[in-house]
Amino acid sequence: MSRVVLVTGGTRGIGAAISMALRNAGYKVAANYAGNDEKARAFHDVTGIPVFKWDVSDYVACGEGVAKVEAELGGIEVLVNNAGITRDAMFHKMTPQQWHEVINTNLSGLFNMTHHVWGGMRDRSFGRIVNISSINGQKGQMGQVNYSAAKAGDLGFTKALAQEGAAKNITVNAVCPGYIGTEMVLAVPEKVLNERIIPQIPVGRLGEPEEVARCVAFLISDDAGFITGSTISANGGQFVV
Ligand SMILES: NC(=O)c1ccc[n+]([C@@H]2O[C@H](COP(=O)([O-])OP(=O)(O)OC[C@H]3O[C@@H](n4cnc5c(N)ncnc54)[C@H](OP(=O)(O)O)[C@@H]3O)[C@@H](O)[C@H]2O)c1
Repeated sequence: MSRVVLVTGGTRGIGAAISMALRNAGYKVAANYAGNDEKARAFHDVTGIPVFKWDVSDYVACGEGVAKVEAELGGIEVLVNNAGITRDAMFHKMTPQQWHEVINTNLSGLFNMTHHVWGGMRDRSFGRIVNISSINGQKGQMGQVNYSAAKAGDLGFTKALAQEGAAKNITVNAVCPGYIGTEMVLAVPEKVLNERIIPQIPVGRLGEPEEVARCVAFLISDDAGFITGSTISANGGQFVV
């Protein structure tokens, strides 16, 4: 399967696992990142996957980035909107900056990226879009009003756009990971992880990035052509929708 895939935030954590899983499945993969050149270079050196730097919260930069990827690899047939950040604070302490950074990256990033590949997908009558939302967009999480709002928004985006894409053979789906052992989660103090988070996960452990990557690999496959507007929850039973 040599389709062209772009994974945003594809150089670290879950995104890196997605990039590698899809490359190993034979896709032509490009990985975007925001600014951590060192990690991106190391990822490229190990995997050979081309990396492209731009900020998904910047609409114009997304258009330029998509044009660069398409010039190098060809029309983007699969987009994985994975880039995301947290800026946690209790609501009474949350600053407008913390609110806007998270909304601009985790929610507007989906518009900024998808808008630039949508025309090509419609013209080719084929497309696969997978949005990485979160368990905390499904259930809400204290200290994450900004993040929960953005990730819930990602699910609304997915369901509405799926209806627009269906007639053009473009599927739009979401994956909601639970707590996965990446830098984002391992930044949580160990005591909080061991005493508060892991005990809430029925399978008794954090998820692995590769477990999320396998959900994405399925959703973009030809086998999943009848699945659109749906959400796969990969959370170890922590929240059953
Ligand atoms: N980890 C979890 O337990 C968990 C659970 C549920 C959902 N998620 C979601 O899964 C996705 C990946 O999370 P992760 O834990 O793998 O994160 P991570 O390890 O922190 O990696 C984030 C990746 O996104 C990139 N990125 C961040 N902001 C960006 C921007 N504005 N423009 C372009 N790229 C940007 C980063 O680039 P740089 O390296 O340049 O910074 C990096 O490649 C996120 O959407 C997150 O919300 C994660």
